[in-house]
Amino acid sequence: MIILGIETSCDETSAAVVRDGREILANIVSSQIELHRPYGGVVPELASRQHLALIDSVVTEALQTAGVSWAEVDAVAATYGPGLASSLLIGLNAAKGMALAIGKPFRPVNHMEAHLYSPLLGATGEDLLPMVSLIVSGGHTMLVHATAIGRHRILGQTVDDAAGEAFDKVAKLLGLGYPGGPAVDRLAQRGNPGAIAFPRSMRDEASFNFSFSGLKTSVMYWLRKNPTSEPADVCASFQEAVVDVLVGKTVRAATECGVRTISAAGGVSVNRRLRERLAAQCDRRGWRLLLADASLCTDNAGMIAALAFHQSNPERSASLAVDVAPSAGLVIHS
Ligand code: KG4
Ligand code: ZN
Repeated sequence: MIILGIETSCDETSAAVVRDGREILANIVSSQIELHRPYGGVVPELASRQHLALIDSVVTEALQTAGVSWAEVDAVAATYGPGLASSLLIGLNAAKGMALAIGKPFRPVNHMEAHLYSPLLGATGEDLLPMVSLIVSGGHTMLVHATAIGRHRILGQTVDDAAGEAFDKVAKLLGLGYPGGPAVDRLAQRGNPGAIAFPRSMRDEASFNFSFSGLKTSVMYWLRKNPTSEPADVCASFQEAVVDVLVGKTVRAATECGVRTISAAGGVSVNRRLRERLAAQCDRRGWRLLLADASLCTDNAGMIAALAFHQSNPERSASLAVDVAPSAGLVIHS
């Protein structure tokens, strides 16, 4: 079964063609980073206009790259939420229109659920599930226990900022530009992670919730008091504080759930130090670590088309009535 997927929840215009939920025939991502860079963050109005301008050509490129004709597409899927309302509208309505035009079903997909299962793409081996998954992106930070595709429950999530948001804000404080995560990751490689003792909020609490806004404020006060401190040390020490909490809670969650597979997904899961520390923990315990290729961690339509394969077709009228849901959470099925 061939699914055309579309993702426009934030600032990436993406279309992908995926066969049977696993084989990625094309995954085109047109990034708007340069458009938003002067503003230091995503400007919703600009993002939606850009999605509108690009959506047709990105879809055409995906089909051409995949070598697939419209007649061979079995269903069209798109993100309905969470995300920016005006951005989601473009992809969702384009996908509905395309599904109607070719007379094939439309499948709405939850963006967080797509992130959750993205590490299964490209993973080999039997019995990949159950797993405990750490979803860390610009808008979300959560720990999820998944027992089968589509069967999952949230163990905990951030009570304030997302991990990616903290990376972006610290990068801004240091004048590293936008987006901040990759810049902090790069600079941290040259710094000393033990140089500054930033707080590890909620690390030792029994809950699986997170909090990153205090850490961001600590970095701000540190920089005010120590304006000449080495930026690489600030980055490495900040990153270590985030990673300590993320890894500590993920390992404890897997232990409590009795699972031996851990995965990480979302933009922040590309972070080198996070990957290294998760790998070390899994090696020590003989656990399996599922990490998707970087291109599948940040926002992309490949993960949308892949997850849509595992969803059944809703009634045509019901699927076309699905509206964007900017603050949709992860839909829980346990
Ligand atoms: O999943 P994603 O592409 O978009 C959302 O759904 O939010 O995540 C984007 C976030 C941004 O905050 C970005 O700074 C962060 O992921 N990010 C990173 C790295 N690469 C991207 N954070 C830390 N280290 C990285 N290497
Ligand atoms: Zn995302």
